[in-house]
Amino acid sequence: MTERYVLVTGGFGFVGSYLVERLLKDDGTRIHVVDSLVSSPIDVGSFTRKLGNPARLTYDLIPIEAYWQKGEPRPRFDEIYHLASIVGPVGVLEHAGRIVKQITEDTYRMVEMAKADRARLCDVSTSEVYGGGRDGYCAEGDSKIIPPVVSVRLEYAVAKLACEVALINTARVSDLYAVIIRPFNIAGPRQSGRGGFVLPRFIDQALKNAPLTVYGTGKSIRAFTHVADVADGIVRALRKGTRGEVYNIGNPANKVHILELAERVIRISGTSSRPEFVDPKSIFGPLFEEANDKYPDSDRAMRELEWRPQFDLDEIIRQTLEYIKAGRRD
Ligand SMILES: NC(=O)c1ccc[n+]([C@@H]2O[C@H](COP(=O)([O-])OP(=O)(O)OC[C@H]3O[C@@H](n4cnc5c(N)ncnc54)[C@H](O)[C@@H]3O)[C@@H](O)[C@H]2O)c1
Repeated sequence: MTERYVLVTGGFGFVGSYLVERLLKDDGTRIHVVDSLVSSPIDVGSFTRKLGNPARLTYDLIPIEAYWQKGEPRPRFDEIYHLASIVGPVGVLEHAGRIVKQITEDTYRMVEMAKADRARLCDVSTSEVYGGGRDGYCAEGDSKIIPPVVSVRLEYAVAKLACEVALINTARVSDLYAVIIRPFNIAGPRQSGRGGFVLPRFIDQALKNAPLTVYGTGKSIRAFTHVADVADGIVRALRKGTRGEVYNIGNPANKVHILELAERVIRISGTSSRPEFVDPKSIFGPLFEEANDKYPDSDRAMRELEWRPQFDLDEIIRQTLEYIKAGRRD
């Protein structure tokens, strides 16, 4: 049995909570979560009760900066999964102008901790770094495109990209063992509509028999990946991935236009709602920017990490619908 001490930043977030559940399946793994709860979609008490309040799971409900300032004594970690971040197409807006500072400073703190502990570090970046790729198709070796429109969304993307570059170079000039993953659109139970994510928003609207608000023409391309598949990809990347390497984590089989996603939600939920085309700036103001088209080439993760996403899009919609309908927060 491998004994491991693991740090998960943002471990009570949407993705982080699935990562915690995944890590708890490994006997001998102890997990420490650092999460300020600033955008956590769960009720921590309900979540930990559902897990059986395992003694192997401990936490500090504070920002990374405060955890960093606490200094020693703290555990020596073998693995660090860095997920805590400002997120979401709407979630980022209130942080305009401070996103680069927050994301880069927190990532540097995790790099220093990983170096001090000789821990393996997985940095969770984003597919937004591609800036639209080749008409939405994004492979790890592709050039990154900086779109001409300076938006809050761009600030998030360039902050994540700056961290990637710094991590790769640090792994070259020191003994830091770091890998980076670029998730594409993640979806599933526990995702909150608050950050502006599309599937929980459509489901909320469907449950109220209200119009499903589709931005623009509805032709934006996305590929949705079940959050449990993403959590599995993150663990595989850290344990099996090549040092200094980047892995797309996204399910190309779930590629879809947003209008088709709306139609699938309507069919699966049995709602009387219909799609309604809107300009998102009329709802969220001029700072809002839609993401570029994006869908992944995930061959590298499938080949090198033996990552195999399990959930198709209809199953993701069904599970998320049941969770939201039941009003759960665990
Ligand atoms: N959701 C997606 O579709 C998606 C896609 C690509 C990348 N990502 C990345 O995945 C990671 C997790 O995203 P998520 O969707 O689970 O978001 P989330 O908001 O649900 O989770 C983030 C968690 O981190 C915590 N947090 C935020 N800032 C913090 C700080 N400074 N100190 C301590 N805790 C802090 C929040 O309270 C929250 O619980 C992020 O790094 C995000 O950039 C998400």
